[in-house]
Amino acid sequence: MKILVTPTSMQPQEGKVNPALEKLREFADELVFNPTGKPLTGEMLIQQLQGCDGYLAGLDSISADVLEHCPNLKAISRYGVGYDRVDLAAAEKQGIVVTNTPGVNAEAVGELAFGMMMSLSRSLTMLDASTKRNGWIRCTGKELYGKKIGIVGLGAIGKVVARCAGGFAMEVLAYDPYMNESYAAEHGIKSVSFEELIAQCDYISMHLPLNDQTYHMINKETFSKMKDGVILINASRGGIVDEAAAKEAVESGKLGGLGLDAFETEPPKDSPLFAYDNVLATPHTGAHTKEATENMATLATENLIQVLRGEECRYTVTAH
Ligand SMILES: NC(=O)c1ccc[n+]([C@@H]2O[C@H](COP(=O)([O-])OP(=O)(O)OC[C@H]3O[C@@H](n4cnc5c(N)ncnc54)[C@H](O)[C@@H]3O)[C@@H](O)[C@H]2O)c1
Repeated sequence: MKILVTPTSMQPQEGKVNPALEKLREFADELVFNPTGKPLTGEMLIQQLQGCDGYLAGLDSISADVLEHCPNLKAISRYGVGYDRVDLAAAEKQGIVVTNTPGVNAEAVGELAFGMMMSLSRSLTMLDASTKRNGWIRCTGKELYGKKIGIVGLGAIGKVVARCAGGFAMEVLAYDPYMNESYAAEHGIKSVSFEELIAQCDYISMHLPLNDQTYHMINKETFSKMKDGVILINASRGGIVDEAAAKEAVESGKLGGLGLDAFETEPPKDSPLFAYDNVLATPHTGAHTKEATENMATLATENLIQVLRGEECRYTVTAH
């Protein structure tokens, strides 16, 4: 049994024992790793996958073309919740089982998104950089206390953001086409339409999957309907926010702050958004806490071994 392991936080490190990796070593005859420190694509991914039966996958682009070159592959275990970079239909056609690790990184991503709101409200990164250059700027920020926050996608991560917002006495609104109304009511979350949320909120945080329906869900038109000075956070997937429209919205002052942990192209090269102090950019690092990486490694390993043993796995995802 040969297995490729690509997430950066699951690469072997000198002097560090990773229990999930040890479990994989015991199970497999051979492990192959990702030498690049970045998500793999195309040729490089095909090369690394040659002869593999199993694949513990980071944020690589797993296209139909890649899969066609891997006739031995039986299981793809996504290290994370999103599977928008896996061609599920192609995997299904080849009889490859795909799994994910829902819920286990929700605290990590939710806290990062909320941290971005706090930082942008007080220009922390700009003040930090300026003070360290011997500057002494007075900068008037704004408080989260009592403001309206809109959460788009009230799943595992959206619920963490709602809980954090409750601690700041924010008024929490949420839009989710599959809204669990009783959960919302029990937790004081106002269930609203997307249009209401966009028009009313001082903070908007995106926590939904990227697919054909959600691509560029935040675009020129949606920006025009937002309140002036709104702070927008996207710690879900890059394609959900139209970055060209976001740049115009930052430039015009429509957006008071923009926090991005995900980009249309990753890593983003020389993005025009980087010119603005009120744009906070992080390298898709939402899930990178000690706790979440351990949880994801454990569950992704269990899922992969289960599938390769021919056992039922409750975290299987399908195209439908
Ligand atoms: N930045 C990171 O490192 C990182 C880490 C984990 C997940 N993510 C992203 O965050 C997303 C959310 O993760 P999660 O664990 O909360 O997933 P989840 O499945 O628990 O929640 C997603 C929610 O989005 C809702 N939804 C689906 N379509 C929608 C739409 N059109 N409009 C509004 N809501 C919609 C679903 O009903 C669900 O409640 C993932 O899909 C992934 O893309 C990012």
